[in-house]
Amino acid sequence: MSILEILNKQALSKEEIKRLLAAEGDDKKLLFDKALQTKLAHLDNHVHLRGLIEYSNICTKSCLYCGVRSKNLKVSRYHLSDEEVIECAKLAHKLGYGSVALQSGERSDKAFTEKITHLVKEIKKIDNGSLGITLSLGEQSEEVYREWFEAGAHRYLLRIEASNEELYYKIHPRDEKHDFKKRLDCIDSLLKVGFQTGSGVMIGLPFQTLDDLASDLLFFKQKDVAMVGMGPFIPHPDTPLWQYKDQIPSAAERMDLTLKMIATLRLMMPEINMVAATATQTLDPQGREKAILAGANVMMPNLTPNAFRENYLIYPDKANVKDKPSQTQSKIDESLAAIGHKVLYNAWGDSMAFTKKQK
Ligand code: 5AD
Repeated sequence: MSILEILNKQALSKEEIKRLLAAEGDDKKLLFDKALQTKLAHLDNHVHLRGLIEYSNICTKSCLYCGVRSKNLKVSRYHLSDEEVIECAKLAHKLGYGSVALQSGERSDKAFTEKITHLVKEIKKIDNGSLGITLSLGEQSEEVYREWFEAGAHRYLLRIEASNEELYYKIHPRDEKHDFKKRLDCIDSLLKVGFQTGSGVMIGLPFQTLDDLASDLLFFKQKDVAMVGMGPFIPHPDTPLWQYKDQIPSAAERMDLTLKMIATLRLMMPEINMVAATATQTLDPQGREKAILAGANVMMPNLTPNAFRENYLIYPDKANVKDKPSQTQSKIDESLAAIGHKVLYNAWGDSMAFTKKQK
């Protein structure tokens, strides 16, 4: 079957997905063109912003890829004060972002979960609940997810990281704290509680095959998630996976594969929200724009106070650590205009896929 025939199909098989992920030259261009057309037809040229608040790098987990894993003793640990979080949220509101995303290292103790409930309620008070709230706070019990949902959060990101269980355990310790089944159960709980649920994976991991990546895309489709965040894996020197840094695809290859993953998923799930991950920008200064052109429609500009950002290096050379929010803003507007896109200001920017399902 030709690439054109595959691109015009309604549902893609795993083999067809693998063909798209392996596309090069003219075939790759056809894939990107089709993905962009599909996005524009369903979601217009709008980009939604979430002001990212990196609440804390204190983490109970030790994921083998992550720079802020608990076993990395080089990191100085912090959490923002309530006032700092609210200031970030007010700034997001002032800048017209419409939404914030609260992200943190993973903790599930009561002091933490209650703090988050409090912060969600406080953010909701800003201008009578005008800000949308996405949480990205890892694995929790269904009760905790429900408590946060009832407090006013309505979107939740929990990447599966790798949908192949064997690969999952090559990038996580094999212990009760890093349980693949629990991760799956949490995604199901989030869907059940009613969150617009997002998931995602890293691309270019050691041991990862094209077959794994195709399965990841089929996993998102099967779970019918509302949002997806996928970005290139970037080895961090203070993590166990650093030892494989010479055995993974080159930075350019990881970037290219990320774009093909985004484009292919856009064909499979035309109306979901897909983020142009900051990690794409780390590998390529134009990375986020390329991701938008490949089918992404969300960006998450960092609003964390600059002093804390260098302690939240989940991977090295993270982009924008030194940028100020106002600079970030004009840069985003300009770079999106240059590729025929624009920010939809003062809107929550919910997933169209989710909104339609609710009706
Ligand atoms: N490279 C790229 N992405 C990473 N993440 C964590 N560590 C890395 C890394 N070294 C991603 C994970 C996590 C998200 C917050 O950041 O997918 O879910």
